[in-house]
Amino acid sequence: MAAARGIAAVTTALAVAVAAALAPAARGVDRSEFPPGFLFGAATSAYQVEGAYLEDGKGLCNWDVFTHTHSRGIRDGRNGDVADDHYHRYMGDVEILHSLGVNSYRFSISWARVLRRGRLGGVNSDGIAFYNRLIDALLQKGIQPFVTLNHFDMPHELEIRCGGWLGAGIREEYEHYADVCFRAFGDRVKFWTTFNEPNLFTKFQYMLGAYPPNHCSAPFGSCNSGDSHREPYVAAHNIILSHAVAVRNYKENYQAKQGGSIGIVIAMKWYEPLTNTTEDILAARRALSFELEWFLDPIFFGDYPREMREILQSNLPTFTSEEKKLLQYKADFIGLNHYTAIYAKDCIYSPCNLQTYEGNAFVLAIGERDGVKIGRDTAFAGYYVVPEAMEPAIMYVSQRYKDTPVYITENGYSQSSDASREELMNDVERVNYLKGYVAYLSAAIRNGANVRGYFVWTLMDNFEWTFGFSVRYGLYHVDFDTQERTPRMSARWYQDFLTGSSLTLEAQAQRADS
Ligand code: NOJ
Repeated sequence: MAAARGIAAVTTALAVAVAAALAPAARGVDRSEFPPGFLFGAATSAYQVEGAYLEDGKGLCNWDVFTHTHSRGIRDGRNGDVADDHYHRYMGDVEILHSLGVNSYRFSISWARVLRRGRLGGVNSDGIAFYNRLIDALLQKGIQPFVTLNHFDMPHELEIRCGGWLGAGIREEYEHYADVCFRAFGDRVKFWTTFNEPNLFTKFQYMLGAYPPNHCSAPFGSCNSGDSHREPYVAAHNIILSHAVAVRNYKENYQAKQGGSIGIVIAMKWYEPLTNTTEDILAARRALSFELEWFLDPIFFGDYPREMREILQSNLPTFTSEEKKLLQYKADFIGLNHYTAIYAKDCIYSPCNLQTYEGNAFVLAIGERDGVKIGRDTAFAGYYVVPEAMEPAIMYVSQRYKDTPVYITENGYSQSSDASREELMNDVERVNYLKGYVAYLSAAIRNGANVRGYFVWTLMDNFEWTFGFSVRYGLYHVDFDTQERTPRMSARWYQDFLTGSSLTLEAQAQRADS
């Protein structure tokens, strides 16, 4: 008996040792590897799911106007007028979240639903009431709201009155909006983020001209107005200072009594040097500096990174001493939207076509090395499946920002809407993607990274910005004619991972509908 126990103990120890030695993706992953209180959730954003674009006193937002006036800029010419009709179906969606077993839901507030005209109009009480209902329904199910204040959308009036993010007046507008939200919802919301991916949307708005207000200049594109070399940095400067004034207000007037925390979400690709030459190694570093440190260095260290100043010179604004004082408020945590990795090739010493997303850093991002792709393709061009990059990406941020808590606020896999019904529902590729990324997330935590949560993008298929409805990221498939939500294989996998049991998600969804 004792011998049998001894053998069992040795076998278990061996299994643990073998599991630890295996690459994370190969050995699978278990929820018990994550610390107690770790948030596991799913994410959406207001414009992408809510619909009800003109209901109950909501004002028009920049995306309402852009999709209606610029439909050729959206792959399928469609818009978010109805999207997932989440505004009316939120109760069913909360049921779906509950049945998945998540303990947090990341969503954003529509600024134009709360303040149709920014600071000049009153607060829209119907808008406040909607988010109160949503927050209360989540909390009743034990799901923590993880709230983004700005996820690409703003009241259209502010485009006109302030020049969007280009005018300094937007800082006061944003501070007021954030204050309205802290006051209305902060008794129950413990996780706030000021902005979602400002490092990405400012480039799409003001460098590439693909997002409203569609500003760009040659050689990046042809727009009616804009300056691709300058405007993205002016917008970023105003966003960093808007973040700062909102965080100051939260910390001085709300945090002590409400007990929450506030951070910012940055899009983070991992850049792998194309070759092991010093030039490419520096290029990969520079790409990160122009992406991540562009926002996080001012927030945590009080100024833009040196490489950016050297290259951009006077196109990069400088912080006045008054502005620098505001930067002392920093952020309580960093949210990272991490989907992919790509090779970085230097363009300072060798010539490249620089009209690209990374062009401002004199970097060319390439998906292949010697004819071999860095990872499997997804439906999103340039987004490859590279789960092992999750670990160095997290370690890099943890080391640079001295253990500031990190949340993976988005991670997910896209499919084309043209795929067959079978492929769309039995989404094995998405299951493998999520398993792999979660396994490397667990490896980063074992390596000492202070990661506190993980959110799958996205709960259900929704309006994917310039891709319209042509690309699907959901754990749930959505039929946009009937609004029926159907769990994919990946929803089952996530539920199984979270709860250890595969319930029948369809049955639960039906219950939610009835
Ligand atoms: C980042 C954005 O935050 C989200 O809105 C978008 O849908 C996903 N990534 C997928 O592209």
